[in-house]
Order: sequence, then structure tokens, then C-alpha cells
Amino acid sequence: MTPDLMESGAQRTARAHGLPYPGGSTESGGRAADFGRHATPGEVDITHGRILYLEDVCVSFDGFKAINKLSLDIAPGELRCIIGPNGAGKTTMMDIITGKTRPDSGTVFFGSTIDLLRHKEAEIAQLGIGRKFQKPTVFEQLTVFENLELALKTDKGVKRSMLFKLDSAQSDRLAEIIETIHLADSVSRMAGNLSHGQKQWLEIGMLLMQDPKLLLLDEPVAGMTDEETARTAELFLTLKGKHSLMVVEHDMSFIRTISEIVTVLCDGSVLAQGTLDEVQADERVIEVYLGR
Ligand SMILES: Nc1ncnc2c1ncn2[C@@H]1O[C@H](COP(=O)(O)OP(=O)(O)OP(=O)(O)O)[C@@H](O)[C@H]1O
Ligand SMILES: [Mg+2]
Repeated sequence: MTPDLMESGAQRTARAHGLPYPGGSTESGGRAADFGRHATPGEVDITHGRILYLEDVCVSFDGFKAINKLSLDIAPGELRCIIGPNGAGKTTMMDIITGKTRPDSGTVFFGSTIDLLRHKEAEIAQLGIGRKFQKPTVFEQLTVFENLELALKTDKGVKRSMLFKLDSAQSDRLAEIIETIHLADSVSRMAGNLSHGQKQWLEIGMLLMQDPKLLLLDEPVAGMTDEETARTAELFLTLKGKHSLMVVEHDMSFIRTISEIVTVLCDGSVLAQGTLDEVQADERVIEVYLGR
């Protein structure tokens, strides 16, 4: 762990109890006290080679440790696959990263300087972390184009939304994204008439409109046809590099197509990590997951 990511026990305790953040008496003085406070979209410090960093994260639900000393990090532009048995804590990990669930302890950083545990869910989205839940959530009564346009209007009031017009850069971006998500022929179609796979791509497109640095995708190909799954793999490979991706999936052939490093979660922590071949050959992984 780098010194920049460290936090004194006093600071951690203060945060946990909602007290003023002590900074002046620490070695790094006021600098530490300011970490994460002035973060704005587009500014993620990746000089340490990590876009996401979790260390010793724990969360319990009624005494049950859903996440147990979980540590992992993701490099900028990486496409990380996460696999593991039902109940391993994969979705809960995403809940923690996106601010939906607060961990009991541990460290969660976006880049080297943004302490995600100090931000609310909406702020985390604005900082550049987009999340795709398993079920598609598009506006069925609106067209593909309108759905994408709407993705830029979040956090504007009703009046401002009605007056909102895409500028030329945003129009270009929308056109590019429609191509990327394979919906160029469906711009004017009602989202409700799209196939399940197309709805999933549209929702990914809506996330892309906000130009996220990091995309979290929970079981994105569940319920897709084989052809849709293959196209989704292509899509993710296109997004890799421009964005960092964390993809949770149970579909091993999909994982084989897209994966570089695969992290296996079990009982709320990392059981194994490596290429898919490496983790598939790991006896512990076979025991708890693949061999079932
Ligand atoms: N809000 C909650 N309250 C109580 N228990 C919870 C809560 N959220 C998750 N859990 C429990 O935490 C554990 C981890 O759940 P999680 O949904 O993160 O697993 P998962 O790895 O995503 O599983 P799956 O592959 O089935 O989606 C499970 O035992 C689940 O029942
Ligand atoms: Mg899950």
C-alpha cells in the first residue's frame, strides 16, 4: 500500500462517527485532510497504476460476514472478470464500490486520491463510476435515441431538462455510442420493442454517455442468446482500454472470450486470481465453484 492511500486510525474513527476529519496533526498535515473532498469528474489520479483499490474491506449483515477482508485492485483500462459461487459477495462488492452499502471497515479508493467511502452513491456516479445491474432498466416508452439523450440529463431539474439540447460534441458522442452498442439501425425504435440483449446494450450505452472511467457490470449476459453474448463480448473488448471494466459473470465461455485476469471470490474474499486457465486448474476453485 502506498503512503498516499494510508489513513491513520484516528481519521478512520472520525469518519466512522461522522466527526470532523483530523488532518493537521498528521505527518502529511492538511493534505490528508483534503483527500477526496475536491474530487471532480474527469480527475482521477492513476499515477500509482490503479483505478480502483480495495483493502481489507469487511461488511456483515446481522453477524454474517458477506465481505471478509477483501483486497483487490484494478489497473486503468483493465477488463477484470470476477467469478465465484452464489453468495460469494460479488454484488455486495459492487454495492460497496458504488456507495450503496457502507462497509464496516476497510479502504476503497478510486485512483490514488478519491476515498469512495466519503462519497454518497450519486456523487460516486458523477465521479465516473457507472454501474449496470443485471436487469435492464431502460425507459420502455422512449426511443433508443431519447434514452441515450436522457442519460445526459441526470441531475438537471425538470425545467432545465426540457430546455436541454445536445451540443455538437454530445451529438457526435451519441452517434458514436449508437454504433458501438450495435443499435444504429434502431435509433427510432421504442426501447420496449428491443430484444433483451438490445436493452442491455442500450443501458450500457446510457452509461457510456456519461463517459465513465470505471464500469461495473453484474451478470451482463444472463438471459442473452448465444449471438447476443458473442456481440457483448466484442463490445466489452472495444471498451477495454478506453474504460476500466469489472465484469461479474457465471458464463465461463463468455469469460474465456474476454478475460485477462480473473479474480475468484468466495466467502467474501479473494480465493484465487490469475488467467482463466490458472484459476480453473486451482484445486480450491474446483472445490468451491467449478467442480460443483
Ligand atoms: N442487504 C443484505 N442483507 C442481508 N444479507 C445480504 C444483503 N446483501 C447480501 N447479503 C448476503 O450476502 C451474501 C453475498 O451476497 P451477494 O449478493 O453479494 O452474492 P453474489 O456473489 O453476488 O451471488 P450471486 O452469484 O448469486 O449473484 C449472501 O449470503 C447474501 O444473502
Ligand atoms: Mg450477485
